[in-house]
Amino acid sequence: MRTQVAIVGAGPAGVLLSHLLAADGVESVVVETRSEEYVASRIRAGMLEQSTVDLLRATGLGERLDREGDRHRGIHLQWPGERHHVDFVDLVGRSVWVYGQTEVQKDLVTAAHARGQELVYEVTGTLHELETDRPSVTFTDAAGVPQRLEADVVVGCDGSFGPTRAAVPDGVRRTWERTYPYSWLGILADVAPSTDELIYAWHPDGFALHSMRSATVSRFYLQVPNETDVADWSDDRIWDALAARLGHGQDGWQLATGPITEKAVLPMRSFVQQPMRHGRLFLAGDAAHIVPPTGAKGLNLAVADVALLAPALVAMLKGDHALADAYSDTALRRVWRCTHFSWWMTTMLHAGDDPFDRELQLSQLRWVTSSEAGAAGLAENYAGLPIGF
Ligand code: DHB
Repeated sequence: MRTQVAIVGAGPAGVLLSHLLAADGVESVVVETRSEEYVASRIRAGMLEQSTVDLLRATGLGERLDREGDRHRGIHLQWPGERHHVDFVDLVGRSVWVYGQTEVQKDLVTAAHARGQELVYEVTGTLHELETDRPSVTFTDAAGVPQRLEADVVVGCDGSFGPTRAAVPDGVRRTWERTYPYSWLGILADVAPSTDELIYAWHPDGFALHSMRSATVSRFYLQVPNETDVADWSDDRIWDALAARLGHGQDGWQLATGPITEKAVLPMRSFVQQPMRHGRLFLAGDAAHIVPPTGAKGLNLAVADVALLAPALVAMLKGDHALADAYSDTALRRVWRCTHFSWWMTTMLHAGDDPFDRELQLSQLRWVTSSEAGAAGLAENYAGLPIGF
């Protein structure tokens, strides 16, 4: 088999890249270790920033998002006794959309099938000759037949556990990592959201987030210790913790409860690997960087990577290498901005035991909710900087 771009990983980064390349007449094949159903059902964050929405629309993938997504002007930030709205539209003229990554994935795959793009599931690719101009990916197909996919370029969109990251030699790659002393317990519940826009709550018992997926489905997160076993969190214990941390009864606000349909513990970490290109291998999304979930940057950052990478590859395949040569440095500027923002939101909102840290957190929260300069910094980063930032 021969294609122009071999893409490893059929998550949102990989499939969106295949759409962006196809729009410019570049062929690609996407190979994915997992099944189509498994990838489609992975539950991830649900907040899209303005530039992600603009790109999905421009690629003809925004129709259901425009119909079913919910545009939000901003977020609520709170701590015991106080809740403040930060209005991104007023502050920076940009907004955000509540639309689950699961839905984005469905839209991308449905359109890829309709447009005849090739997605090969349940194969594990091995990378070869990345330092030549004839790289390839080998795998065994569903019929047990060995296949070699030859390409001009290989792109790793295979997330934090995929093989492409490690294909950059040890002497070339540099990594940075930060672990956090807490995790999130995430739940989905069949209950109408008790809020118009997301609530990010600092609380001495730990952070809580009230998010949503639709008019009838709410999404919540609770800060829990690392190594927490979901079995220790009964539905009642979860609702009691959410009520306490989100301020049930505060100024008459009420948290509505309902059947919990999903519970999982999510670890938190920051990770960056650079360079994001080695020879004919390019990395995009979680293959190159992980952010903790606070602020919902993971998907948006992956989309920004492929938005930069697609035109770079299109030009490279026509003989102009300038954008491809600049890709790693250009992408990493935004990666580090989002790495800082996600770390900052996380650090500001998760309570630990240190009384000095708690006072600093509360002081920072008062500043971002009362100073226009403070609020605008949060708004600019949350609603998202332009792709080329
Ligand atoms: C969601 C997740 C986040 O990490 C966040 O900051 C906002 C929303 C979500 O899953 O809805």
